[in-house]
Amino acid sequence: MHRSQGEPLDEAFWSRRIAQALKVRSALVSDERTSAYRVVNGENDGLGSLVIDRYGDQVVMKIYSEALIAHLPSIVTALGSVIRNRAVVLRFARRVAPAAERLGLGNGMIISEHSDLDPVVEYLENGLKFEADLVHGPKTGAFLDQRENRALVRRISKSRAVLDVFSSSGGFTVHAAAGGAVSVHSVDISPHAIDAVKANIDRNRELPTVSTCRFSYQCDDAFAALDGLNQRRKRFDLVVVDPPSFAQKQRNVGAALAAYERLVELAAPLVNPGGLLMQASCSSRVTVGEFHAAIDQGLDRAGVIGELYCDTAHALDHPVGFPEGAYLKARTLIIRDPARPRKGAR
Ligand SMILES: C[S@@+](CC[C@H](N)C(=O)[O-])C[C@H]1O[C@@H](n2cnc3c(N)ncnc32)[C@H](O)[C@@H]1O
Repeated sequence: MHRSQGEPLDEAFWSRRIAQALKVRSALVSDERTSAYRVVNGENDGLGSLVIDRYGDQVVMKIYSEALIAHLPSIVTALGSVIRNRAVVLRFARRVAPAAERLGLGNGMIISEHSDLDPVVEYLENGLKFEADLVHGPKTGAFLDQRENRALVRRISKSRAVLDVFSSSGGFTVHAAAGGAVSVHSVDISPHAIDAVKANIDRNRELPTVSTCRFSYQCDDAFAALDGLNQRRKRFDLVVVDPPSFAQKQRNVGAALAAYERLVELAAPLVNPGGLLMQASCSSRVTVGEFHAAIDQGLDRAGVIGELYCDTAHALDHPVGFPEGAYLKARTLIIRDPARPRKGAR
């Protein structure tokens, strides 16, 4: 569960470990432009099976092991002594939820003295406003791990037509618009995600760059959407592809690699020459080497040349303490020649 090195698992232990983890994030704690970040990243912070994310004055604890349930009262009290909060939302991994429920702990249970508390919160990321549903939203409410890649997208979006594939609630969409994109087309299969994109854009419309950006939305399967955009000969200057984990199990790794290859094959031809393609993977079982090889295969199948612009990873509040902890990988390529004939496109 964690490396206690013989220490008693009492309140003092948990507050010491949470305080240590918070110290690692001191740059974020003092960053007035960002109010949501990961405080404890499980095993990577020496607290296996425990994730704690902060959204302003509310905190979400996600529990990945039944063994932690007995310690929840001490952890919640310890957390309150390190981070003053109005509420702690408990979320349990699917395999842990039945055991928690037997003890009367429902998934999404809110521990708070405030009866009027709304777990749908507004938070800041890089100075931009977003909403997260701490009870029903993905992960603990939002995908906080892409914060620095979103900041990168903001820096490289000026005057570009941007395509945000697997947009979720529009983290990349809003950053691209804030960075001066002329247009952003957001694609996600979930209608809730597309509604959230629209709401998050509206939250930031007071920014001149956001108010002048042209937005369009597509609630669709990403593979079908990319195929359709190719057929309609649409072109973009920056394409971001940030799919969900394709390899929840080791046996899915082959299929995941084929999916990354296919996404690159479909996305690269949509990029204008000199434009950028950012392809991400959050599959912990897919190694960096395998991911890069899949990208190369996809470029090859598309007959497109992609030169390395940069390789990036998760934000710094997601420290990596063991190889599988490095789950998030992103490769950004400069697309040089999308006009060459496609070799054996499937
Ligand atoms: C890792 S999240 C994307 C995070 C997002 N880019 C962000 O910055 O917050 C993956 C998203 O893919 C969407 N999704 C899953 N399967 C999909 C598919 N086949 N086509 C399109 N979207 C899909 C999910 O609804 C989810 O919003």
